[in-house]
Amino acid sequence: MAVTGVPETFTAFVAERIDGVHRRGVRDVRSADLGPGEVEVRVEWSSVNYKDGLASIAEGKVARIDPLIPGIDLAGKVVSSTVASIAPGLDVLVHGYDLGTAHHGGYAEFARVPASWIVPLPPALTGRQAMAIGTAGFTAAMSVVALETRGLHPAAGPVLVTGASGGVGGTAVAILAERGYEVWALTGKADEHDRLRALGAVGFLSRDEAPSEGRPLESERWAGAVDAVGTATLPYVLRTLRRGAAVASCGNASGPALVTTVFPFILRGVALLGMDSVAVPIAERIELWNRIATDLRPRSLGEGVSEVSLEDVTTALDAILAGEARGRWVVRVAA
Ligand SMILES: NC(=O)c1ccc[n+]([C@@H]2O[C@H](COP(=O)([O-])OP(=O)(O)OC[C@H]3O[C@@H](n4cnc5c(N)ncnc54)[C@H](OP(=O)(O)O)[C@@H]3O)[C@@H](O)[C@H]2O)c1
Repeated sequence: MAVTGVPETFTAFVAERIDGVHRRGVRDVRSADLGPGEVEVRVEWSSVNYKDGLASIAEGKVARIDPLIPGIDLAGKVVSSTVASIAPGLDVLVHGYDLGTAHHGGYAEFARVPASWIVPLPPALTGRQAMAIGTAGFTAAMSVVALETRGLHPAAGPVLVTGASGGVGGTAVAILAERGYEVWALTGKADEHDRLRALGAVGFLSRDEAPSEGRPLESERWAGAVDAVGTATLPYVLRTLRRGAAVASCGNASGPALVTTVFPFILRGVALLGMDSVAVPIAERIELWNRIATDLRPRSLGEGVSEVSLEDVTTALDAILAGEARGRWVVRVAA
């Protein structure tokens, strides 16, 4: 890129191995350290996702470069671009692909990314709101669209969301409720019920009420489900979905293993829909963000959103890895 809008040095949160010791923290980085790309962005907001937690630790198996600036999503303003359709001054957001894993991410004052990753910020969203939704909320929206494409509609019956206190789960609750669904929240945190009620949940299950082990099939209960938890909850969801219903499987907060039987599939025609937000083609990504800003807009966008700086992002990264998420963290980078 001939003209650069990025200063020679700027501040970033970096995860790296130095002399065999893994460390995370804020330090200066150089413009020359950023990856390739046609577009440079002054990052205003990023967010904290479970994957960011993994990308920031040595044993996380997510970081594919070292050093790595984590941050799998960002919102900010274009400062320079070699692509005519993406002009300086444009408000944009970026997430998915290699951002924050194999390409430096959003935990820095500046980012350089391929033009093919750029999503113009929908006019009905601020950058902070977009990051309050973030990759987690985008995945929740994808899940709702997948379930509805398979035939789910509000009159079909109750819909279960697992990991409801977390980023994916909470946003799924808020999107489904706003669309008129009867939303039930499966959460291990009883003290989150009030917040989840404000997002639109009308019923609650504790983890004890949804054990991973049980009979191969149980009473048909759910017209659909969004599962962000994996091992601990997906077997229960599959056993209790109604005939022909589907679950969008989008996460593994409790682990990746899935112990189940084929009976939900072959005796009830249940469907397991896989969600991968990372590789969604850019045109679909832009279209879905425009829907998130309008007809898939979550209820109570500000509910349960905490703000951290780059200096205190470590605390949030550790908390999300420990399963302590309560809503979403936005990272104020240079807003
Ligand atoms: N497929 C994709 O493209 C995609 C995109 C984004 C995220 N994800 C994945 O989705 C998952 C959730 O992400 P997130 O950002 O929502 O994370 P999060 O904010 O940490 O939320 C996860 C929630 O899962 C529940 N949970 C955690 N550990 C558990 C355990 N051992 N047993 C039962 N429940 C447990 C907790 O909710 P309760 O306390 O309320 O039960 C926790 O708040 C992660 O695995 C993430 O990697 C996937």
